[in-house]
Amino acid sequence: MINSNDVNGKVLFEADSHQFIWLGADEEEEQGVVQTNQYLIINNGRGTLVDPGGIHLFSRVVALVSRYIDLDKIDNIFFSHQDPDVSSGIALWLGVTGAKIYISELWIRFIPHFGIIDDSRIVGIEALNGSLKLSSGNELKLIPSHFLHSCGNYSFYDPISKTLFTGDIGAAVFPSNGQYLFVEDFNKHLEIMEGFHKRYMTSNVVIKKWLSKISNLDVKLIAPQHGALFKDENVDNFLNWFSELRCGIDIIDSIYV
Ligand SMILES: [Fe+2]
Ligand SMILES: [Fe+2]
Repeated sequence: MINSNDVNGKVLFEADSHQFIWLGADEEEEQGVVQTNQYLIINNGRGTLVDPGGIHLFSRVVALVSRYIDLDKIDNIFFSHQDPDVSSGIALWLGVTGAKIYISELWIRFIPHFGIIDDSRIVGIEALNGSLKLSSGNELKLIPSHFLHSCGNYSFYDPISKTLFTGDIGAAVFPSNGQYLFVEDFNKHLEIMEGFHKRYMTSNVVIKKWLSKISNLDVKLIAPQHGALFKDENVDNFLNWFSELRCGIDIIDSIYV
């Protein structure tokens, strides 16, 4: 279970001048608002934020980020897709950092609806040819995950910490006060994960396509935007379960009722 220290976040990987940080649990968990995970990568003293979350989390996430790095050292903000729980804080983040925002080009025309933004700082991920170069020369890999669930959707791989950030892939919806950081009992975790994937993911064909894109990666940790993280044997437990999942249009008759 989440303990009181976890509200301040946790460094999940640290080596040389590189950290992968989970930005903590929300102490004031609100009924009816889906729980989200935010992540921060610090490489050589410069920051990359991953799905930093919507407007109502902004002040909490800013305070947490500031515990680890100055806001003016955030160079990159990655949005896996366009949903409000991912990207509705965009105008606020552009205001407090000098960062560039990376999101699928399919969504660039839509995100100004979240507020007045400087579109010269928004970059379509498609233009990066699969990797984001950091100022140190290290790279973060950008992996298409289209239709899992958004039509313009990306996963993100950090080759130093060997972490795969998967956005809504691997997401789970905790019952109230039931949050935990790492999956321990995979079969039990399925109870809060399976229904979400059956409805929000498009089809097994797309799942197989995404799995072929990540098959050459050495993944030690899977970090989703909601729910708990997968490490050790639960990385393969998750990928094996997901590879067999029938969802979305595979089970369309059970959805169109
Ligand atoms: Fe989403
Ligand atoms: Fe989400």
